[in-house]
Amino acid sequence: MAGHSFDRASEGYVNLLAANMKSTGLPGDTAGAVQARNRLLQGGWFAPAVQKIAEVIGASDLGDAWIGDPGCGTGYFLNQLREKNGGISIVGFDISKAAIKVAAKNYPLGNWFVANARKLPLGPGCLDALLLTFSPAFSDLGQHVKPGGRIIVVNGGNDHLAEVRTALYQQERNRTFEPPEFAVGIEQTDEQVLTYEIRIEDSETLADLIDMTPFRHTSSRNRQEAFISQGKATITIDLVLHVYRVEGG
Ligand SMILES: C[S@@+](CC[C@H](N)C(=O)[O-])C[C@H]1O[C@@H](n2cnc3c(N)ncnc32)[C@H](O)[C@@H]1O
Repeated sequence: MAGHSFDRASEGYVNLLAANMKSTGLPGDTAGAVQARNRLLQGGWFAPAVQKIAEVIGASDLGDAWIGDPGCGTGYFLNQLREKNGGISIVGFDISKAAIKVAAKNYPLGNWFVANARKLPLGPGCLDALLLTFSPAFSDLGQHVKPGGRIIVVNGGNDHLAEVRTALYQQERNRTFEPPEFAVGIEQTDEQVLTYEIRIEDSETLADLIDMTPFRHTSSRNRQEAFISQGKATITIDLVLHVYRVEGG
């Protein structure tokens, strides 16, 4: 980014996570969860979500914008925006080194940083837009977006992965979700919903679906195995997109 220079590791990413900012030895998503997420996203199951995010963010009109993604994971959603508009520059951050290593390997044209989104190594107002998909939306993040810029927050809605949750917990778990709040001067301008079904026909993908989520650690192994051994399932993808605008510009 303008005014900044960093040394890249040979694997194509920069580690900015100071040892004293790590709360555990290996913060963020584990290597196993990252690999499962990577396989699942590469399988294209979230292509309709990508299309919706690109529409909401207006990807084709963004020119040479800089888009940031704190909690970018494997970088899939962020990179998909760059694929829709090659003029966009992307900068992804994640506290999980395993995730950033995969992002850098998959998408060498992006800029990838191991960093804590609670304290991003960015100045104020240097991004044109911020994308947050299924990741923590810390209220301070909005400061990094220019006046007039947008923030898009994507989360699972009430029915997201409902069939998996029913199979693993044998009851509907209440999922009350409040849209995140950013600083004063950042207003929510839109809320959109996208719901569709995917038909999975192999046990490996069903296992990845569990392994990439907290379900892996919060449900019984027996129920997980019963779900996986079905070998096929129809799964609801139910997403809520919240859009914000930074005042001014
Ligand atoms: C559910 S995953 C979503 C990843 C990605 N956005 C996606 O949609 O594929 C949440 C991600 O947030 C990251 N994360 C959690 N806390 C974080 C923090 N404080 N700073 C940066 N990343 C964080 C995790 O390591 C994980 O990769």
